[in-house]
Amino acid sequence: MAAGKGTRMKSRLPKVLHLLAGRALLAHVVDTATQLAARQVVVIVGHGAAEVEAALAPVAGSGAAFDLRFVRQEPQLGTGHAVQQAVPVLADDGVVVVLSGDVPLIRAETLRELIATCSGGKLALLTIDFADPSGYGRIVRQGDAVQAIVEQKDASAEQRAISEVYSGIMALPALQLKRWLARLDQNNAQGEYYLTDIVKFAVADGVPVLAHRISDPLQVAGVNSPLQLAELERAWQLRTAHALMEQGVRLADPARLDVRGVLRCEQDVAIDVNCVFEGEVRLGEGVKIGANCVIANVAIGAGAVIHPFTHIEGGKLGSKDFIEVGAGALIGPFARLRPGARLGAEVHIGNFVEVKNSTLAKGAKANHLAYLGDATVGERVNYGAGSITANYDGAFKHRTVIEADVHIGSNCVLVAPVMIGAGGTVGGGSTITKDTPAGALSVARGKQVSIANWKRPAKPEKSS
Ligand code: UD1
Ligand code: MG
Repeated sequence: MAAGKGTRMKSRLPKVLHLLAGRALLAHVVDTATQLAARQVVVIVGHGAAEVEAALAPVAGSGAAFDLRFVRQEPQLGTGHAVQQAVPVLADDGVVVVLSGDVPLIRAETLRELIATCSGGKLALLTIDFADPSGYGRIVRQGDAVQAIVEQKDASAEQRAISEVYSGIMALPALQLKRWLARLDQNNAQGEYYLTDIVKFAVADGVPVLAHRISDPLQVAGVNSPLQLAELERAWQLRTAHALMEQGVRLADPARLDVRGVLRCEQDVAIDVNCVFEGEVRLGEGVKIGANCVIANVAIGAGAVIHPFTHIEGGKLGSKDFIEVGAGALIGPFARLRPGARLGAEVHIGNFVEVKNSTLAKGAKANHLAYLGDATVGERVNYGAGSITANYDGAFKHRTVIEADVHIGSNCVLVAPVMIGAGGTVGGGSTITKDTPAGALSVARGKQVSIANWKRPAKPEKSS
């Protein structure tokens, strides 16, 4: 169910598209369904339907093992009405698990237990005890047997005192669901079709209703406001941090880590505080990440050190924009690696150096205040402070090739396309517009002149 408006988010974006750990809430729920090897995932959309469908299209088109489809609920007349819209596309012989698009942390393992609970044609409800159950549907029992779910607004004072609530998640045979949905009405305090009314029908038909009661409130926590979204984000991040530490990753502070994608670490990785990891990030053995780094889509080789305040922003894994940092490289502080940076082993990139779509071979160094864009840099090249590749002529991008063992002085402009021959030296302050021969010293700047005893202009002395 993902048709609701999410009024309390006070946002133009449909609620289920707000991000948790970098992914839409709804994408988390769909993900969990895939872990169950669901035959089919039906997303019921309404508010912002077109936007929600478009956002999930990459998942739908990813050749997933299940069939993902959307049904529209317009207008939204309640949870029972929502599930009614899915009836035409549900196979009669299946088990249906009803999930909410705004309850992202439900675990596949819990759902497996719930599905097992409904086997043999029963109705299984996921329930939990809350010290403050207000707002939730209460589980009304007679002895041990579940009799009904009563919504807050329809409950008597006695029923409101019940602490066991319905989580919004249930599992049951599709055929039963279809029969019971056909019997729903709107005779209740909110004038809605309540999905929860099917419990009464099951009881009337003599079908056992079983509650699978869990104790972890995070799994059934819904997102209704920015505050709740932030709380779930922290809970998710803490879970991720604990899992990493269990593998041996040393986190300076598990409360100050954000993984918005997949972070894979080899042995003896250490990560300082306030780092954000996005997309696919792979850290080799012994990699150290300094404080306050933002790191996206990169594979970093063994023993490399990323100093504080470094920004690495690669493109998707498998694209030419994914970034590679070689073993033993030293990056930062304050370095910026942009899409398509490919750094070999032991490359050094220092403060305020920007690298884009460039390959640096083993041992190349650019340590201060420099730009390398669309460049191919050979082994052991030393690239001086303040030097840049002028790769853009206003219309097209061009490549700069710097062969092995070249020394580029400070404040040079290499106007692409241009090639600096192996072992050559470029004098500081040169603007190089033509290829240079191997082994040569190339200088392209005004010759230095000194004029002896130069008198600077002076103001006339004041007479009093
Ligand atoms: C529902 C349950 C309540 C339970 C609570 C748990 C009913 C009648 N009540 O109440 O017992 O304790 O969830 O959180 O089911 N939605 C639609 N279309 C609609 C209405 C809702 O798609 O017409 C979606 C919402 O977007 C949301 C989910 O269904 O994802 C739950 O709806 P919500 O309005 O939050 O239900 P509650 O009143 O909280
Ligand atoms: Mg709700």
